[in-house]
Amino acid sequence: MLLLQRAVVSEFRQACRLKSTPSKLCIRACSTNDSFQPQCPSLTFSGNNSSTRGWRVTGTLLGLGAVLAYYDYRCKAAQESPRIYTREEVRSHSSPETRIWVTLGSEVFDVTEFVDLHPGGPSKLMLAAGGPLEPFWALYAVHNQSHVREILAQYKIGELSPEDKVPSTLKTSDPYADDPIRHPALKVNSQRPFNAEPPSELLTENYITPNPIFFTRNHLPVPNLDPETYRLHVVGPPGGQSLSLSLDDLYQFPKHEITVTLQCAGNRRSEMTQFKEVRGLEWSTGAISTAHWAGARLCDVLAQAGHQLCETEAHVCFEGLDSDPTGTAYGASIPLARAMDPEAEVLLAYEMNGQPLPRDHGFPVRVVVPGVVGARHVKWLGKLSVEPEESYSHWQRRDYKGFSPSVDWDTVDFDSAPSIQELPVQSAITEPKDGETVESGEVTVKGYAWSGGGRAVIRVDVSLDGGLTWQVAELDEEEQRPRKAWAWRLWQLQAPVPAGKKELNIVCKAVDDSYNVQPDTVAPIWNLRGVLSNAWHRVHVHVHAAP
Ligand code: MTE
Repeated sequence: MLLLQRAVVSEFRQACRLKSTPSKLCIRACSTNDSFQPQCPSLTFSGNNSSTRGWRVTGTLLGLGAVLAYYDYRCKAAQESPRIYTREEVRSHSSPETRIWVTLGSEVFDVTEFVDLHPGGPSKLMLAAGGPLEPFWALYAVHNQSHVREILAQYKIGELSPEDKVPSTLKTSDPYADDPIRHPALKVNSQRPFNAEPPSELLTENYITPNPIFFTRNHLPVPNLDPETYRLHVVGPPGGQSLSLSLDDLYQFPKHEITVTLQCAGNRRSEMTQFKEVRGLEWSTGAISTAHWAGARLCDVLAQAGHQLCETEAHVCFEGLDSDPTGTAYGASIPLARAMDPEAEVLLAYEMNGQPLPRDHGFPVRVVVPGVVGARHVKWLGKLSVEPEESYSHWQRRDYKGFSPSVDWDTVDFDSAPSIQELPVQSAITEPKDGETVESGEVTVKGYAWSGGGRAVIRVDVSLDGGLTWQVAELDEEEQRPRKAWAWRLWQLQAPVPAGKKELNIVCKAVDDSYNVQPDTVAPIWNLRGVLSNAWHRVHVHVHAAP
């Protein structure tokens, strides 16, 4: 029945394109009205006679139509005189058996059918079951958008009684009040949690990104940790000893230094959104930055705890010290084989560009996994353990995975796709900016290029005419170690502007040492979460008319 209802609602949503009138939006709301339990017809087919089956289907659809029409009628009535509930009644609806109700302001919603569809995962929405959404929306401010309210409106079932409108126990203290102060140049994509990227004109000014403008990707408030009392808990092997390491203990391991580019899986998501809507923060080309990191090698710390590479598949699971109201921490994992490989140079970093890590970037200790997606570089590292399975964290299993363009939120099966580890080849233009006017004569095009897994960028091709003809850009001189090219290459091209051109369609694409190249358009790589966006980067500019 749930599947049927989902299918109907999804069809219905598509038909309405969410621009529903109040009566249309009420379909779900009324389906959960206490006094009206919908009797959904069952779509079971018996027998093989197609004409009988045809009649059954027609009859069923007619029946369904009648039910929907009745909902609509009931909804209109509910809109005119909404049902009133006490907070006590709302509290008693906190499980799938009793149905799941929540409140926002004075409104009451039955979100039972939405729980499984919640982009942040069912467990996150269940935290608010039977109570107000406000404390959670304060934490995940991404909810404060009109389309989220529109979706919620579909589930409205009534209003709180006047005396219950102000929740007595509502904790309004701001979980982000203690977040650090940030650099004003950052382009902020979300304030709470804080997510921001350097503007493109600053991004490739330096090979090493200065700490204050290094892109920041936080899922939760930034913990304020005391370096004196900080301990990293390293779970030992079965029968072995666990370690509790202070910062001083970590300083005793050989200090290892490497330059590594970190890129978020959502970098350039905004280009996917332009093609077709996706869920996620609107990153432009700046969810990528490069730093010189120093710390202890993970393989040394694991070895001291008595871990060895085993024959069977195993994973190193990391837990951050940032957590949500239930105490659930950010977590992720990488394969043990990578963690134990000294050549993979996985770090427990305590320095970034010669300074202690800034708070936003994981003070006092974070994981740095060269060549791997940013999501696995766990910040504010509190615990690490070796497990037979990948981390059970939401961010390992229910996010940061790629899917076919044909998969949508009704059909997605997160278990069917591997978690993203090494990222594909990437490049983007940072100068000139889209829409800018350039001088006639000569144009300078600048940008970055990078590939995952230590694959070196061997070439960047640039076109001024949308990809019809190409020129090879000049790459920076920075060292690229074979199979350990962890950092980006900055590139530039100075080219004459073809005479008489009033506009240029500038395009770039990179090639790595496995001869992987970027796809030319977004369409074939579009996915519902907008990750792995690495199509040719395109910038359209006007040419200043010569005097
Ligand atoms: N670690 C913790 N503990 N909490 C987080 O929210 N975000 C991850 C990763 N590590 C995150 C985390 C993601 S998705 C990315 S892209 C990188 O950190 C970003 O690192 P940065 O903010 O230092 O650029």
